[in-house]
Order: sequence, then C-alpha cells, then structure tokens
Amino acid sequence: MSRNTTWLKSDWKFTRSATPDVLQPACDESGWETVEVPHDWAIAGPFDRENDIDRKVIKGQADVEAGVREITGRTGGLPHMGEGWYRKWVDVPAAAVPRCYRLECDGIMSHAEVYCNGRKAGGWPYGYSSFALDLTGFIRPGEPNLIAVYINNPSSSSRWYPGAGIYRNVRLVTLDPVHIAHWGVELTTPEVMDTHGTVRVLTRLVANSPYTGITVRTTVLDPDDSPVASEACDAIQSSVVVQVLKVQSPRRWSLENPEQYTVRSEVMVQGSLVDSLDTRFGFRTLRFDPNRGMFLNDKPVKMKGVCQHHDLGPLGAAVNRAALKRQLAILKEMGCNAIRTSHNPPAPELPELASEMGMLIIDEMFDEWKYVKCPNGYNTLWEEWAEKDARALIKRDRNHPAVIMWSTGNEIPEQSKDDGAQISQFLVDICRDEDPTRPTTAGLNGFEMAIKKGLAATLDIPGWNYQPHHYVHAHTLLPGKPMYASETASTVSSRGEYYFPAVDEIHVRRETLQVNSYDLSYPGWATAPDVEFKAQDECDFMMGEFVWTGFDYLGEPTPYAEEWPSRSSYFGIIDLGGIPKDRFYLYQSKWSSKPVLHLMPHWTWPGHEGNPVSVQCYANHSRVELFVNGKSMGMLGRYPKGRVLQSNYRFLWPAVPYEPGELKVIAYDQQGNIVGETCVRTAGEPAAIELVPDRACMAADGEDMAFVTARIVDKHGNLCPSADNSVVFNIEGPASVDAVCNGDATSLESFKRSQIKAFNGMCIAYLRSTGGVGNVMLSASSEGVAEGTVTLSAGR
Ligand code: GAL
Repeated sequence: MSRNTTWLKSDWKFTRSATPDVLQPACDESGWETVEVPHDWAIAGPFDRENDIDRKVIKGQADVEAGVREITGRTGGLPHMGEGWYRKWVDVPAAAVPRCYRLECDGIMSHAEVYCNGRKAGGWPYGYSSFALDLTGFIRPGEPNLIAVYINNPSSSSRWYPGAGIYRNVRLVTLDPVHIAHWGVELTTPEVMDTHGTVRVLTRLVANSPYTGITVRTTVLDPDDSPVASEACDAIQSSVVVQVLKVQSPRRWSLENPEQYTVRSEVMVQGSLVDSLDTRFGFRTLRFDPNRGMFLNDKPVKMKGVCQHHDLGPLGAAVNRAALKRQLAILKEMGCNAIRTSHNPPAPELPELASEMGMLIIDEMFDEWKYVKCPNGYNTLWEEWAEKDARALIKRDRNHPAVIMWSTGNEIPEQSKDDGAQISQFLVDICRDEDPTRPTTAGLNGFEMAIKKGLAATLDIPGWNYQPHHYVHAHTLLPGKPMYASETASTVSSRGEYYFPAVDEIHVRRETLQVNSYDLSYPGWATAPDVEFKAQDECDFMMGEFVWTGFDYLGEPTPYAEEWPSRSSYFGIIDLGGIPKDRFYLYQSKWSSKPVLHLMPHWTWPGHEGNPVSVQCYANHSRVELFVNGKSMGMLGRYPKGRVLQSNYRFLWPAVPYEPGELKVIAYDQQGNIVGETCVRTAGEPAAIELVPDRACMAADGEDMAFVTARIVDKHGNLCPSADNSVVFNIEGPASVDAVCNGDATSLESFKRSQIKAFNGMCIAYLRSTGGVGNVMLSASSEGVAEGTVTLSAGR
C-alpha cells in the first residue's frame, strides 16, 4: 500500500475567542465560523487606523502630543494581530497494519501550535516557513481525530501585511512505516549536455536498521511522461540511497520552453510497493560571470525581474493557485522573467508555477536577522529558529529549476555591524550545506558599509538595492563577484491619477492621498524606472534588476505612511486588483519584444479647455507623433538631449492645450513608415458597465478562479476615467464572487463583499468555482447606468 494524501481544506472551525475547553472533543463550537483553508482571518476587515498602528516618539520634542508620529497603514490596517484557534475533525480509516501519519503545513501565520487529540504535536513560529509534524502516536485510526491549531500574531512584527491564520495548505499524509522522508528526495543535475544528462537522486528513507529487503526504484520520465531511465537500488546499511541516472539528449528547461522531467521514487519492502513519490526537475545550466552577467543554457539572460510580497491583493495572504498563476501570466506578458520573493519564503505553489511557466525565482528567507527592524520581528526568533527556517526553505524548494539563488536577507542592519559578516557567513554555510549548486545572495542597501565591514564578500553574488550610480564602483571593489540589482526604482503611482505638469516628484504628498501616474514620483532613496534602464544598459556585468514591486501589496503606503486611510502600497507596476498601471507599458516597452504604444493621460478634462495637459507615451518605436483632433503636436524621437528621464521608451509633451475630442499618437519606424497608432477620446456621461473576463472557462474544482474587470463606459464605449459608481455584482451558477477590488489604496470597503466602488472607472471581481459544472452568469449593476453581463463556464 502506497502513501495516501488528504488535503485538509473544508470544514475547519475558527474562532478568535476560544473557551478553556478548546482542546476537548466536546468544546462548544456553536459560535465558531466554518471556514475553508487556505484562510486569512483578517482580509475581510474591517480596516481601522488603530490596527497595528506604530507610534514613534520623535526624539527631542518637548510636546508629547506633537512628538509622536502615528504610522497607520503600515501593515494594511487589517485585524491580523492577536490570537486565533482552528479545529477540524479528520476521519482516519482503520488500518490492518501499522501506519505513520504526517501533517504537512505549507505555512501558518504565525507562532502556530498544533494539537492532535488534545496533545501538543509541535509548532512553528515563523509564519512563512513550511513544516511537517509526525502525528504517528497521536492519530487514532478508525476514529474521528481532532486537529486544533493555536495562532498568535504579535503586533509590530512586520513592515507589510503578514496575513493571519492557516493561510496556506495543510495535508495529512498516511504512510507505511518504511517511507520517503519529508522533503526526502534531493535532485541535482551534474551533467547537462546536448548528448546526455545525468540526474543524481538522493533518497532519504524513514526506516529502521538493518534496512534489509528495502529497495528504491527510481524512474525518470521525460516531459511527455515516457520513462527514459530507471534503476533499482537496495538500501544497504543506510537509510540514504544515492543513484545517478543517465538521460539521452535531455530537453532543456528554459524560459521559453520550461520542460520538466519527473523522478518517480518507489520504495519496496521485500518486493512489495510501500511508498511512491513524484518530483519534478529540469535540465538546465546556469553560469554567473563576474564580467558578462548570467547565462542560462549558455545563452546570456538579463534578469527583468520584480520583487513580490506574498499577498494576493483582495484575497489577502490566503494562497490560491489560479490567482498566483494569473499574476505570473500578467508579469510574463510585460516581459518579466524573474521574481524575488521579498522578503520571506513564498507559498510552495510559487516556485512550482514558475518552474512550469518559465520564470526565474530568487528565493528569499528573511527581512530581519538578529538585529532589530521591527520590535517583535524575526529578531525574536533568530537564535532558536534561523537555521531551521533557512534549511526548511532550501529543502522544500531545491528541486525546482526556476530557483536560481538563495537570498539570505533584505537590507539587514547587520550590513553595518562588526559581527555582520560572521552572521551572514553562518547563513551562507547553511545554504552551501543544503545546496552546493546554487549561489547565495542578499539584498544590500548599505553600499559602503556592506563592503567595508565584509558582509558583501561573504555572498557569492551581492544584490544591490537602489544603487544605480554605484555599480561600476562596486564592480571594482568586489572583483570576481557577479552582481545584480536586487531592488530598483520604487516608483510610486495610482492607476488613472494625473496631475499636471508631469515633472520629477520626490516625496510629493497630495490631499487626495493618491500619486501621479506619470511615473516620475518616488521616495528619496528611489528613482524613476528609466534611471535603472540606463544603468543596466551601461553595465554588461550587471545581471539585471528586480523592480519594487510587480503588484501593489497590502501595507507600506509610502508616501502616505501617516495619512489614514492609505492602507496599501503605491509601488506596484500593477494595481492591487491586478489591473496594469501606465508603468506596465514602460516596462513592457523595454523588456518585451512586443511592439508597444501606450498613451496617457485620459482625455476627459471638463473645465480645463485651452489649458495645458502633459501628455506622455510609452513605446519601443523610433519616433512618435502626437495629434489633438488631427492637429500635430510634434514628433519626438529617442534620446532627446539633456533629459535623462526621457529614455528610449518615454516620450513626453509637457504642455498640450486641452481640447475635447481625440488624442492620438502615431508611431514610425526608422524609415518613416507608420508602425502603430493608438488614441483616447473624451468620454461623455457614464452610460453602462462593460464586463471584461480574463478567460472564458474555469475548472469546476472549487478553487479555480476567473477575473472579471468592470469598466464604466459612456454611450460610445469610452472609459469614463474618473467614474466612481458603486458596482454590485450578482452571480448565478457554480461560482461565487470571492473578492472585489478597485486598486484604490485609500478604499476602506471590504474586499470580501460583492459590491465596490469603481476607482477611476474600473473595479474587478474575483470569481471562484464552487465545484459544480455549468454556466456562470455574472452581472454588474449600478444606479443610472445599464447593467453589464457576461457568461463563463465551469467545466472539468
Ligand atoms: C526597500 C525595502 C522594501 C521596501 C522598499 C520601498 O528599502 O527593502 O521592503 O520597503 O524599500 O521602497
């Protein structure tokens, strides 16, 4: 009998105020909520400025009242702090032979304690780590078994929204007493050549000596699932079996063709199968050249990356495969080829999907080591848990071809400490011990100190945060070290918000609590995207960049850290709901090979007739010409002299007199041929809702999602660019409206309803399969405008 895996998803009971009998079978659960896991208890709100508020005393202020800075939305203004309890009854079949039981938890936020039938089985404090508990001896086969999980989230422990609860998947795995250990298959590819490749398979078993009669049969399946190599090996005197299998003409894993092979590990005792596990991997080579950058399968690849926090916008921290996959698809569409999992271990689905879809991953562990960033942050766990957390991440993710480096930390204060290098070395040694095949890195912002105090030298590949003017210097100071930009830009913007004139804005704050969308706004330590483009283009040795951030995330509402109700970031290239901001097209112009021509702002400025409007176009064409109602406003070419920011991809007409009608841009190639055209038209009054789904069908599996954008349009179908109609979604068929979002960082409407105001003409509904097969009819209505409808299907 082989292993049996039960995903513990439904029928969890949850409360934030448990009674003392919480571990008793008879505990009264009547006041408890029934929830599905993955579950984020805080995402439904309500938002409140007091939630995890950070009161900083300003030194030297005599007046106590005036001397306190209240930092409000830093972790999203959501109720994630404090205690929570989950309980679930699990039926475990009676077994004729002895069985082992393992509970696999992908991540519980945070300080989880896990109880089984009233006894503590273990726990894990760092909410981002995956872990497993041995429940053999706790589980009673043939009976209902009670799993209870206690959670306690300290306040002041994070610089962004951490989420709360059992926010990732949990599985109960039933095993034979002889089985493959948790994360017990380790794969490396010592040889990757056109003629052949080898895969080294280390299989770690749980078994008692003398191991006689135990055999491990390893089979390699190609990307079409055909067996291409197989070998059986007896476990002699050890619970670890190492095999090297040869594959002829291996198909490479690449960004364009992410082909993966499978290792099937089968364990036999006296000839009968007792365990079987499939693990995917890829044949690919990686080379990091200190002078020429990164090579994937011997081809140069510049990383066009984004940093990503773990939340999924209106879904909060609760992981959903379809929502993650959509994020990756949108990023790929932009030309992005890499993600840095800032600043913590991601859900396991992320490196899995990246390996399937062809994206590179820098897997990051920590935002904080021993020295404090947040009073109750990782520093409180460092001594006891750092090694366990670091090993857990590497053991879990090391077989994924997408993962290219281990990042031990982000902007850690240790950069300037005397013991910083030593602490860094401790983590680097752990990485090398677990995985000698991948380099170590970290995101460093203390350029001088990190080099002077020796921390940068401990890393194989230092990553630089916000140092575009220092790359050449760093290259000379650290000869022989490949390097890249682990964090760049931090440009801020709100989708669809325009303020004239379009000029560089450092730390500009407006009463609207919104940020100009011309992509020239950034905090003091940051830059516009174009500055990094130039720096990367000038430095062949730089392996690429990771923009802060791909998507907006909950928390850290710079530049409005103290201005409630700002509660989510403005850094994203894409807004919190997943709608691209203008900046998306600037990156797409630079990063992708698609022809891009994008025009901003909108052209609906009643009362502004005759006054100047800044018009900007993002394009990757040689020249662009702007027209207002057919009149040319001038042609612009690449590289205008004297303006650093007007890079190859940004074309700006600073003052175009406004006249309602049509704003059009035409793109030309070098020979003067027209190669593209786009326009925006002045919109009339809101007349209707247009629904734009991102797919026609979803899987009827109770988890798959579809994302439907609602656009408020005039009678001609033009987007009404400042419409804020409240949109009510109604759904019929086998799907529900799981969340709504409008991308407005100041909105305090709950994500977990089916109604939300449009923000600058748009909002979005996240539909989720409820399991059944059939048509899903979504309608969206709002007072005074025609209803929008769309039909999707849920199928198997
Ligand atoms: C960086 C930091 C990120 C984020 C960003 C905002 O310094 O690593 O976590 O705070 O700044 O610009």
